[in-house]
Amino acid sequence: MRAVDLIVKKREGGSLTREEIEFLIAGYVRGEVPDYQMASWAMAVFFRGMSFEETGFLTRAMIGSGEAIDLTGVSGPLVDKHSTGGVGDKVSLILAPLAASCGCVVPMMSGRALGHTGGTLDKLESIPGYRTDLSVEHFREVLRRCGFAMTGQSQRIVPADRLLYALRDVTGTVESIPLITASIMSKKFAEGARCFVFDVKCGSGAFMKSQAEARCLAVSLARTGASLGRRIRAVISDMDQPLGRMVGNFLEVRETIECLQGRGPQDLMQLTLRLTAHMLVLGGLERELAAAEALCRERIRDGSAWRVFLDNVEAQGGRTEALLDPGKGPRAPHTLAVRSPTTGYLARLEAYRVGLACGVLGASRARKEDPVWPDVGVELLKAPGDPVREGEELCLLHARDPARLEEARRLLEAAVTVGSERPPPRRLVLEEIDSDALGKD
Ligand code: URA
Repeated sequence: MRAVDLIVKKREGGSLTREEIEFLIAGYVRGEVPDYQMASWAMAVFFRGMSFEETGFLTRAMIGSGEAIDLTGVSGPLVDKHSTGGVGDKVSLILAPLAASCGCVVPMMSGRALGHTGGTLDKLESIPGYRTDLSVEHFREVLRRCGFAMTGQSQRIVPADRLLYALRDVTGTVESIPLITASIMSKKFAEGARCFVFDVKCGSGAFMKSQAEARCLAVSLARTGASLGRRIRAVISDMDQPLGRMVGNFLEVRETIECLQGRGPQDLMQLTLRLTAHMLVLGGLERELAAAEALCRERIRDGSAWRVFLDNVEAQGGRTEALLDPGKGPRAPHTLAVRSPTTGYLARLEAYRVGLACGVLGASRARKEDPVWPDVGVELLKAPGDPVREGEELCLLHARDPARLEEARRLLEAAVTVGSERPPPRRLVLEEIDSDALGKD
């Protein structure tokens, strides 16, 4: 078999067999199939798609590229959540300790920044000292101690996703339903949880721009998950505008602290509580979503979710001083305000351009080897619906390299729409579907 023939077969719209997909994935992980051929194949998949059967072969080949984490002996309902990627989406950082404080056990394997979206691992690593490259033994130990543990793909665990994820990030091949499905499901299977809540994002800041596309991705995730024996629930949520007020790695950690201390912005808290409530129901800890949400609110009010977060940061090597006094955490040396061009209401803040601006400032990568800066990003001072005056500050750009501020400012100015009428309130949760309904054609 030759990689080039499989690229051509997919380019011409053919279906690959299990053996062919295994050949590509195993060859890529061993270094026998080079980046340029894999990138070319990913682009062919982007344009030609994959059948459900091929997506299953790809997911299994990626799982088979490494070991699955064995969580036998870890007691409690093993439930996790995964987002398909957004801007300002720091839900995992809040939800994992919250779900753990309610009794779930959350083994969470996440990704890095991808395209214009942020990555949970980059956000966590912005906490000085925090490690996400845990050995399996350490992962299990943190999980037992804190009720949740955060890690990334490694040379042992789904190495195929680690390589392919980084390659797709810089080759314009992210927005593909089969590639996203295999990337997410291979990580979720390998981490050892039994049930998953998927937050499938749609809108300008998501990889799926329309609700119909988001539904197709939800179905693909659910069917692939069910074929691997996992229980799934999907929430389709709005990502046309950023979530919360902070976008950028440590800026999002700051907002996480506010949420865990009961001072989080309404949109971010609403979605986090809903997704966590689904986890509690799926894990059998509560029967009704309303009761589950009430329990989550109580765990934030009584401080237990915050304490679990601090415990995890300590267990994964992070310095809690930066959390107890965020002024001690990373802070970019340069700021620039973006101001309202006119008086009226902030009508729209396009998440995609906000994400691109963060990338320009250095919160994500343009090339695989680029560093990610912990302190840069965008602080939103106004939310859609707020009245604004001409010249009033709408957001603050945080930069390490002042030369990047001008391009980021232009992107932000293009992201903002100020209108004369107050826009209708944002509908955040657009659809909720459970695996039984999703599992059917
Ligand atoms: N999240 C992932 O883990 N993988 C993708 O491809 C997209 C979002």
